[in-house]
Amino acid sequence: MNFPTPRFNIEKLKTYKPNFGKSKINNLIRLSANESALGASSDAMEALKFYSNDLNRYPPQVSDELTSAISKRYLLEKKKIILGNGSDELISIIAQTFLNSDDEAIYTEFGFLQFPQAISIAGAKGVVAKDIKFKANVDNILSKINKKTKIIFLANPNNPTGTFVSKKDVIRLHESIPSNILLVYDAAYSEYVVNNDYFDGSELADANENVIMLRTFSKLHGLASLRLGWGYTSEKIIANLMKVRGPFSVNTAAIMAGVAAIEDLDFQNKSVQHNLKWMSWFKKELQSLNLDFQPSITNFLMIRFPSNSKHNAQNAENFLASKGILVRSMQVYGLSNYIRVSIGNEKENLIFIDELKAFLEN
Ligand SMILES: Cc1ncc(COP(=O)(O)O)c(C=O)c1O
Repeated sequence: MNFPTPRFNIEKLKTYKPNFGKSKINNLIRLSANESALGASSDAMEALKFYSNDLNRYPPQVSDELTSAISKRYLLEKKKIILGNGSDELISIIAQTFLNSDDEAIYTEFGFLQFPQAISIAGAKGVVAKDIKFKANVDNILSKINKKTKIIFLANPNNPTGTFVSKKDVIRLHESIPSNILLVYDAAYSEYVVNNDYFDGSELADANENVIMLRTFSKLHGLASLRLGWGYTSEKIIANLMKVRGPFSVNTAAIMAGVAAIEDLDFQNKSVQHNLKWMSWFKKELQSLNLDFQPSITNFLMIRFPSNSKHNAQNAENFLASKGILVRSMQVYGLSNYIRVSIGNEKENLIFIDELKAFLEN
């Protein structure tokens, strides 16, 4: 009997699987998805109290209120902002808008998983540029460019490695690529970064028609459940992306909470300070446990476990899960000796390190 078959590219794909836990333990400590440690801005929660007024109405296709708030907060041009149902949606529609089936798109070895996924869904060929010491490498990216290359995806800082490419190197990358190649610069974690040699890419996207910077409300702003992201690029690119994006993909609740969140500078500053304090605490604790880790400028870090002992990464993940703590396995990246853990709130961080100690002493 014949069955309807999906496109060849889709059949090969695996479904994205987050670790939100199967455990029966209530109050799981979820350090597996790089979410905001401090919840969301109370202003955003307050704004949602008025949400039910217009439930029967479609949201605006482009919210002027939200693009104005973003433009004011980051001193950007309103007409160059595109909103999306999470930056995931923007990654997908960029691939669908620009990639033909004989095109290639470059992504980095341990780059964000949605890049190869989006490229495959669009039906094009993904090309991997090797990292060096878990860091995206500009020369390796450039060496993969050929006549078929249409897009370069770069998450900066990158998830799951937590590493970054310096401003100087990003500029060198952009200067070295032909103007018909689109540089997708995903700065999802940029708000956490305090390093001087990092930049969020908005000035590059401002000055060039072949760059799109992506941002999200899911991390620092703590609105992951509402699915809200945005991009900054030329009006020409936005016009084409809007043909592909769902007409009403950004819902009214996301818009209302998003406006309040982006204006709440106190919450944003508090979250950045919290992250810096606890990231440095984590690093000290891991050192004292003799565990190797990948230094990170984000709100998560990868920890390495010995492969040839019962204290391996898989057992660590299982042990922590049995205590109600969820972390992210790195097996899907081929990094089976690592787990990725997000910085949580004070209580969660203390419990995590206590249980990690218990695991290692066991
Ligand atoms: C690098 C990177 N880009 C994009 C996203 C997706 O964010 P959103 O929740 O806005 O879809 C994530 C989420 O983990 C991420 O790590």
